[in-house]
Amino acid sequence: MNRKIVVTSALPYANGPIHIGHLVEYLQTDIWVRFQKLCGNVCLYFCADDTHGTPVMIRARDEGIEPEELIRRVHGEHVRDFDGFLVDFDNYYSTHSEENRHFSELLYARATENGSIDKRPVEQAYCRQCDMWLPDRYVRGVCPRCKAENQYGDSCDACGGTHRPTELINPVCANCGLTPQRRSSVHYFFKLADYADRLRELAAGGHVHESVMNKLDEWFTTGLKDWDISRDGPYFGFKIPGEENKYFYVWLDAPIGYMASCKNYCDRHGLDFEVVWNSDEYELYHFIGKDIMYFHALFWPAMLIGARFKTADKLFVHGFLTVNGRKMSKSKGTFIKAETYLAHLDPEYLRYYYAGKLSSGVDDIDLNFDDFIAKVNSDLVGKLANLASRSGPMLTKKLNGRLGRLDDEGWKLIRGLQQAKDGIISDYEGLNYAAVIRTISSLVDECNRYVDAKQPWVTVKTDPDQTRITLTTTINAVRILTIYLKAVLPRYAQKVEKFLNVEPLSFADVDGVLEDHEIGRFERLVERVEKEKVEAMIEESKQADKPDAPVVTLDEPIEPECTIDDFMKVDLRIARITLAEPVEGADKLLHLELDIGGVGKSVFAGIAKVYKPEDLTGRMVVCVANLKPRRMKFGVSEGMILAAGPGGSDIFILRVDEGAEPGQRVH
Ligand code: MSP
Ligand code: ZN
Repeated sequence: MNRKIVVTSALPYANGPIHIGHLVEYLQTDIWVRFQKLCGNVCLYFCADDTHGTPVMIRARDEGIEPEELIRRVHGEHVRDFDGFLVDFDNYYSTHSEENRHFSELLYARATENGSIDKRPVEQAYCRQCDMWLPDRYVRGVCPRCKAENQYGDSCDACGGTHRPTELINPVCANCGLTPQRRSSVHYFFKLADYADRLRELAAGGHVHESVMNKLDEWFTTGLKDWDISRDGPYFGFKIPGEENKYFYVWLDAPIGYMASCKNYCDRHGLDFEVVWNSDEYELYHFIGKDIMYFHALFWPAMLIGARFKTADKLFVHGFLTVNGRKMSKSKGTFIKAETYLAHLDPEYLRYYYAGKLSSGVDDIDLNFDDFIAKVNSDLVGKLANLASRSGPMLTKKLNGRLGRLDDEGWKLIRGLQQAKDGIISDYEGLNYAAVIRTISSLVDECNRYVDAKQPWVTVKTDPDQTRITLTTTINAVRILTIYLKAVLPRYAQKVEKFLNVEPLSFADVDGVLEDHEIGRFERLVERVEKEKVEAMIEESKQADKPDAPVVTLDEPIEPECTIDDFMKVDLRIARITLAEPVEGADKLLHLELDIGGVGKSVFAGIAKVYKPEDLTGRMVVCVANLKPRRMKFGVSEGMILAAGPGGSDIFILRVDEGAEPGQRVH
């Protein structure tokens, strides 16, 4: 019997772009969903943008737009990036939707009925300048424990301690630098501890992987704390019903966004939401990163239980991405946006590489670019795609594109490939993609050894019949391997299907063979990765680190960019003014003669309103020594001396250190 499955990935924040760290999750999930579909199961993949909260509000203010406009734009960017990486959601929705408001109010109302909501005053940092309550991460100051400077309001990077933002010494608003006030207001709390037994039961029933279990045990042992689910305005989110200026905290409505996305899909496809979301007919799985386990293993199921909805069958938790062994870093160029990656590289490289690294545990995974290039070029291009490219074109060109039959030896190879199916399926199902890739790699090696031994490029001249058998075998091998990899490499698989001239392949097709069949034209399946492109991508990511330009209005707009090389062309030298005299008929100009270490230059400078000639003679200045001479009304000017200031009577010739010598270069 075919299964019916609902799958979600965590909802990415709408305040920033998708990056290669996020993609660990979306690719892991997408591969699993595609795998389920290839097994003939119904599998619906739901996600959405996580749109509410302070960071979105601040970003919108910085850009001078409404939050609604910001989240609309970012939604478009996220959808574009996910498409680019072939992540195939059944619905990609938004938490800023009517469905989500409805379910947020519903779950909250049911929690209230159950007596799971408490109210009490909370003291929090408030910035008068920014007119907002500051989340912990928006207060910075000196750590109360180790006195390290410039630490976040919730924890200290230097000593690792945790604290409350109100405990920081000399706190400032991270947004504007002003000292925040401490203000008290009433907040709503969800009484998580009331659900401790049911959450424990859930966990014991196999809700999470064993590596996550330890963490949960730790939390159960230290005790579950009440959860603050309200924020005072101004806040971008849903209003709490019956309140004037209170909103649901973003993390309350975020997971409810899974339901909203599902509901929206059901309504558009004539499906019953109650059945799809809330019945045993459909299995339910959430994919998340390890940083948001607390929310998904505790708060979220507690809210569902309280509101009489079913909880997920399993939480799949993955680790974090490191690049070249370290945390992604903007200055190193390893904080790579999806968009930047796609401008340089094929998305299937990353799909293949991550698949080769992923397993069911919460270990971090490392993207090492040398390894990435090696794996893609040797395994994907050199072995897998090569198997197709050394057989397809030959069959088309030399043997009129017709497959023959398999012989005994061919059957042996193909049977071997077919027998790997169950193992591969169970590895996919268990999220052991690394094992899938290892199995496939060794099968590919075996197939390449077969071709090497058969030497079709030699026999094609002497024994076309045997060669047709060899190529028929190879092409059947390509077909099966393509099915095995199709969840990871959907575009590659599509090209193979086209060239094999077959309908879309799935796991059910593994057991059949292709004989007496005409294949189509061969198209290159995947290109080698070029190191230069990887380097260019990293270089571009470095540049993306520049702080956002401050919003200022200049009377004179900034000139087009000039590179450091352009700038280095300007030869700045120390010069001595040997003569300074007025210019007849030009009351702003002075005529100066400069000595640049034995080289003389004649210069006209617009400084007569500020400097008297007698004060300048003998003075040391900095001049542009290689300025192209320019004919002016009163003579030729061969250089320029450096002065600063807005002009008019506010001009200041740059001072030169005592001891400088005419002709010295200035850097
Ligand atoms: N908005 C919340 C999730 C709400 S779910 C109801 C959030 N958003 S996020 O954009 O920060 O992260 C989205 C997902 O990507 C999370 O599961 C997170 O763990 C994952 N990752 C974000 N950065 C990551 C890495 N560097 N490495 C691996 N996964 C990462 O959390
Ligand atoms: Zn502020």
